[in-house]
Amino acid sequence: MRPEAAIFQTLHAFDRHAAEYGRWEDHPSAQHWRARVIACCVRYFSPNGRVLDVGGGTGVDALMLMGLGFTVTVVEPSEGMGNIARSHGVSVVTGGAEDLETSLVGEFDGVLSNFGALNCVHDLDRLRRGLQARLAVGGVAVLVFMGPFALAEALWLAGTGRFRALARRRRTAQVQLGDASVPITWWTEGAVRRALPGFEVLRVESLGALLPPPDLHAGSTLLRRLDAAVAPLPGFRHVGDHTMVVFRRVA
Ligand SMILES: C[S@@+](CC[C@H](N)C(=O)[O-])C[C@H]1O[C@@H](n2cnc3c(N)ncnc32)[C@H](O)[C@@H]1O
Repeated sequence: MRPEAAIFQTLHAFDRHAAEYGRWEDHPSAQHWRARVIACCVRYFSPNGRVLDVGGGTGVDALMLMGLGFTVTVVEPSEGMGNIARSHGVSVVTGGAEDLETSLVGEFDGVLSNFGALNCVHDLDRLRRGLQARLAVGGVAVLVFMGPFALAEALWLAGTGRFRALARRRRTAQVQLGDASVPITWWTEGAVRRALPGFEVLRVESLGALLPPPDLHAGSTLLRRLDAAVAPLPGFRHVGDHTMVVFRRVA
């Protein structure tokens, strides 16, 4: 698919889906994962620093981080998603992860990209150039993206006899979003790490190694506790619904 066609299709899907997005956000498993992402940001970002939220959607993370004393700018290509964030008082620049060099000015102390915005980005070299332009040396990027294999999802699908659905994560695929679909690249930690020379990895953890994704399962308090406990362990940190990687810019 040509890059312009992929971008057009993605924006169309998220514009149409914006009003419905809150349903996913309200799911207890999604809220649990988001709380862990925010805790990670608080741990690694400079206190009260300037944060850029790439693909920040309806501004949920931005509002939480603003409430914790950070100054946040969202960069978001979908007007439908971005307008919801604006309506809550979030500062939003219209643009994609590929355009950080040109759509913004200045440097940030921290970058967040949460819940798969980077799976809509198919050229990580453009992301690298953007991060080098916008993230201060020494600054931290918390990147949360979906990988090609999710253990809890696979176990749940196999356990409920949905063997054909086991192949739903292919390296490149169309993911259904309401009545539209989005072209997705499933990123491994290794691929993102290789695309970002000049950045060191401080932490890797999974979100959803033991907790199936919200569209499949209601989850439970016990599963959420176990999911958090195993998240940074070798053997579990790369098999979540999402992978959270903390990078520091060193050059
Ligand atoms: C699953 S939503 C996640 C939104 C938000 N980060 C959150 O945690 O709720 C993915 C977001 O990525 C945005 N997106 C799509 N293509 C993008 C791109 N090329 N660069 C940055 N964001 C993109 C979508 O418009 C959407 O708002």
